[in-house]
Amino acid sequence: MERLRVAVLGAGTMGHGIAQAAAQAGAEVALRDVEPAAVERGLSGIRRFLEKGVEKGKIMATDRDAALARIRGTTDLASALREADLVIEAVPEKLDLKRRVFAEVVDLAPEGSTLATNTSSLSIAAIAEALPEKDRGRVVGMHFFNPVPIMKLVEVVRGPESSDDSVETALDLARSMGKEPIVVRDAPGFATSRLGVAIGLEAIRMLEEDVASAEDIDRAMVLGYNHPMGPLRLTDLVGLDVRLGIAEYLAKELGPRFEPPALLRRMVEDGHLGQKSGRGFYAWK
Ligand code: CAA
Repeated sequence: MERLRVAVLGAGTMGHGIAQAAAQAGAEVALRDVEPAAVERGLSGIRRFLEKGVEKGKIMATDRDAALARIRGTTDLASALREADLVIEAVPEKLDLKRRVFAEVVDLAPEGSTLATNTSSLSIAAIAEALPEKDRGRVVGMHFFNPVPIMKLVEVVRGPESSDDSVETALDLARSMGKEPIVVRDAPGFATSRLGVAIGLEAIRMLEEDVASAEDIDRAMVLGYNHPMGPLRLTDLVGLDVRLGIAEYLAKELGPRFEPPALLRRMVEDGHLGQKSGRGFYAWK
């Protein structure tokens, strides 16, 4: 059988993780970002992860090499898309940007290819509206979790116009990556972001109100509820800017219970974005 050809747009934390997982599942992957440095950062993240996997005895050196050989980095959108069966968009979480990307993609990707978005909360219908009516059925949500190569869930989001074919293509790729996909209706925040952000925002409000230290709030959920990681540390891992963007959107769509706390806004304004900036609720190396 011919290998699936996947184009991943955006080589950031999620994009390069998705590219890696797709290549490990046997797909031919083009990983595209706008700047050569961003592409290189994505590729070196993949090399590092695979290398660690080999050191841990989780990945065979031959599989590492085969996966790396299946990933091609590029800044050229047309060449990334030319032969793609499935496009996965993982650019920053801004509706306008995603709509612009999809409008460009539809002119360059093969007719009939599936167009997936890794949005963590935005409406699939609103993104698909950027396309001519006949192409809207090609759009589907494929929401991955960080770190992508390890996390088992993919939320496959069925927009009101998503075709059965698009949903099946997304489910098949997720399963071939060893994930356990769920299918979710196109409701704000889907299943995961809505619940995850609710806990994260409340934890930040508790820190604002001096209920306990960041460490102890996290410890409460780790030891008391068996969460693998506390909500503040997890916010650092996801990115405070990312969480703020989702909270603002959910507040607009679902009401004031998702209104971002002042502390979160302040930290983002000050550039404390979590692990990626070296400082969030914790200091990171
Ligand atoms: N290659 C291959 N396997 C690796 C690996 C590597 N480089 N690194 C780790 N692994 C494997 C480990 O061997 C281990 O496998 P087993 O369970 O089979 O032993 C597994 O991955 C877990 O790794 P560790 O035990 O070393 O790490 P850990 O115990 O510190 O767990 C974690 C790491 C899984 C990330 C854990 O901290 C966790 O679950 N954190 C929460 C993550 C989370 O909630 N993510 C969702 C964020 S929200 C999001 O992403 C959505 C959004 O829209 C913003």
